[in-house]
Amino acid sequence: MVEKSTELIHGQVVRKDPARLRLTPNLQDFEGLRKTFKWSDADKMVEWFPGGKINAAYNCIDRHAKGKRKDKIALIYDDGEGNAQTFTFGQLQVLTNKFANVMKKFNIKRQDRVFFFLSRSPELYAGFVGAIKYGAIASPMFPAFGPDAIRDRLLDSGAVCLVTDSALKKRVYEVKSQLPELKHIIIVGKDVAENEISWEKEMADASDEFDATPMDPEEFSYMLYTSGTTGKPKGVVHAHKDIVQMHLSTYWVLDVHEEDVYWCTADLGWVTGVVYGCLGPWSNGVTQVGLGGRFDPERWYKTIQTHKITIWYTAPTAVRMLMAKGDDLPMKYDLSSLRALYSVGEPLNPEGVKWAMDVFDVKPFHDTWWQTETGSILITNFPEMDIKPGSMGKPLPGVEAAIVDEAGNILEQGEEGSLVLRPGWPSMMRQIWKNPAKYNEYFRNGWYYTGDTAQIDKDGYFWYVGRADDVIKTAGERVGPFEVESALIEHPAVAEAGVIGKPDELRGNIIKAFIVLSPGFSESPQLKEDIQKFVKTRLAGHAYPREVEIVKTLPKTRSGKIMRRMLRAKELGLPIGDTSTLED
Ligand code: PRX
Repeated sequence: MVEKSTELIHGQVVRKDPARLRLTPNLQDFEGLRKTFKWSDADKMVEWFPGGKINAAYNCIDRHAKGKRKDKIALIYDDGEGNAQTFTFGQLQVLTNKFANVMKKFNIKRQDRVFFFLSRSPELYAGFVGAIKYGAIASPMFPAFGPDAIRDRLLDSGAVCLVTDSALKKRVYEVKSQLPELKHIIIVGKDVAENEISWEKEMADASDEFDATPMDPEEFSYMLYTSGTTGKPKGVVHAHKDIVQMHLSTYWVLDVHEEDVYWCTADLGWVTGVVYGCLGPWSNGVTQVGLGGRFDPERWYKTIQTHKITIWYTAPTAVRMLMAKGDDLPMKYDLSSLRALYSVGEPLNPEGVKWAMDVFDVKPFHDTWWQTETGSILITNFPEMDIKPGSMGKPLPGVEAAIVDEAGNILEQGEEGSLVLRPGWPSMMRQIWKNPAKYNEYFRNGWYYTGDTAQIDKDGYFWYVGRADDVIKTAGERVGPFEVESALIEHPAVAEAGVIGKPDELRGNIIKAFIVLSPGFSESPQLKEDIQKFVKTRLAGHAYPREVEIVKTLPKTRSGKIMRRMLRAKELGLPIGDTSTLED
C-alpha cells in the first residue's frame, strides 16, 4: 500500500488537507457543528433499553455480539513477550456474562463497589466490563500501587469485592485487617487460599447467559481515585450515561473506522485506560490492542508493526522517551499502518508533534485535553483541523470552555487565567464519593473549575499554561503532594515533609521532597535512598520523590500549613511572592 502524505507543515501550523487523509474523518464541518450540535443528538448513537434505561457494558460488547460484529476481533491481548491472544465480541460477551454471574453468585448488590488490582490481562477487561454489566460500580487500581494506596481506595469506597492475582495479593494482605467491608477476594492464578475465591473455577462453572442489567442513566458505572491538593485521593464517580460521550468522542476525535486497529497505551488504572483503552473504542465496535508488560521503545514499535496498528493514543512522556531513543530505532520497523496519532495527560511539546511528522511519515500527534473528572476528551485537535503545535486545540461541539479571572470574569484572548467549563456534558463526574463538600469545591460562578490555567488565541485555540494548584503531573500521572508527604512522614527518620513538582525535560515534572529529619538521624545518601524506597513500596512506584533534599525547617503559614509555593519558588529561583502569612 502506498502511504499518502497526510499533512504538511506550513510555518508554525500543521495544515490539514482532508482530501489527502487516508480515510474521510467522522467529524466534518467542525465549526458548523459547534453552532448546531445538541447532546440529545448523541443519545441516538448508543442503544437504550425500554423506559430510558441503559447499560454502558451492553453498549460496548453485547450490542455488537448480537449483531454483525459477533465474530469481529474486539481485543488483541499481547503480553509483551511475543504471545498474543484474540477475543471476538462474541467471546467477550460470554466472558463478561460469566463474570456478571459470579457477581450474582456471591450476592454482590447493585452499586456495590468491585475493585480490580490486576496487571493488564484479558481477565482485567472481562472482569471490569462484566462488573459494569452486572450493575456494580467497577474500579481498576494501578498495579504499581503499594499497600497504603490500596488501603486508602478500598477503605474510602467500602469495596466489598476485590479481584487480584497471586503475585499482587501480598500487598493487599498487608492492609487487609484495616478493611472490614472487603468480603470477597477473587484470585486470578493458581495460588488460591481457602478463604479466597478462584477466578478460574468460578468462571468455568458460571453460565454463559446473562442479560445486562438495565440501569438508570444516572446510576454509577465506574469510579477512579485521583489526587487533589489537599487530603487523600478522592473517588471520582461516573455514571452509565457517560457512554454517550465516550462513544461520540472516540468517534469524532480518535476517528475510529470499522477497519481500524486501535491502540491506547494507558493502563486501566487511569481514566485514559478506562475510557479510551476499553469502553469508548468498544462502544464503537473497533478492534483494540492491549499490551502487557512495561514501557519499552522496541516493544512498542514492534507492537505497531505486528498488529498493524492504525490509531495510536499515548502520552507526552512516552513520546519524549521514544524521541530520546533516536530516529534510527523506528526506522527499523514497518510503521506504515499508522494513520493517526494522539496524546493526552500533560503538555505535548511542539517538538513532539513535529518529531512524529518526521518519523511517522508526516503524521503529527494530536493533543487532547481532559481529566478524570470530565470523563472524556473536551478540548482537542481533530483529524480535519489544522494543528498549532503546542496547543490543546478547541472544545468539542457541545462543550463551552473559557478563561476567567479570580472573580469569574471572562478574559480576552491572549490573557492567562483559570480554564473553566460550563457544566452539562454527559460524561461529567456525578460525585466525589462520600464527599459532597469536595465535589462542590469544583463549581463557582456557574462554571466548573478544572484547576488548570490556560489561554485562548485569536483563532480560538486553547494553550495550556499550568496547574492553578499544587497537583503534580509526573510522567503524565497525577500525584497529590499531600499523599506523598503523608507517606514520607510515616518513615521514622522524617519529622516533616514538603513536596513539589520540579520541571523535568523527560517526565514533565519529577517529585521533589524537602525533608526535616527527626532528632537522632543525620543526612546520608543511604538514608535518602531508604526514604525513597519506603515511599515507592508503601504508596506507589510512580509517586516517590526522585529528589530528596534535607532542610532544617520548612516554610509554614502561622496556622502550620507548609507553603509549597515558597518551596517551589526557591527551587526554581522565582520571586517568592506574598509572604504575609508566613510563620516568621
Ligand atoms: O493538568 C491537566 C493535565 O492533566 C490533568 C488531568 O489529569 P488526570 O485526571 O490524571 O487525567 C489525565 C488524562 C485524561 C489536567 O487537569 N492534562 C491533561 N491533558 C492535558 C493536560 N495538560 C496539558 N495538555 C493536555 N493535553
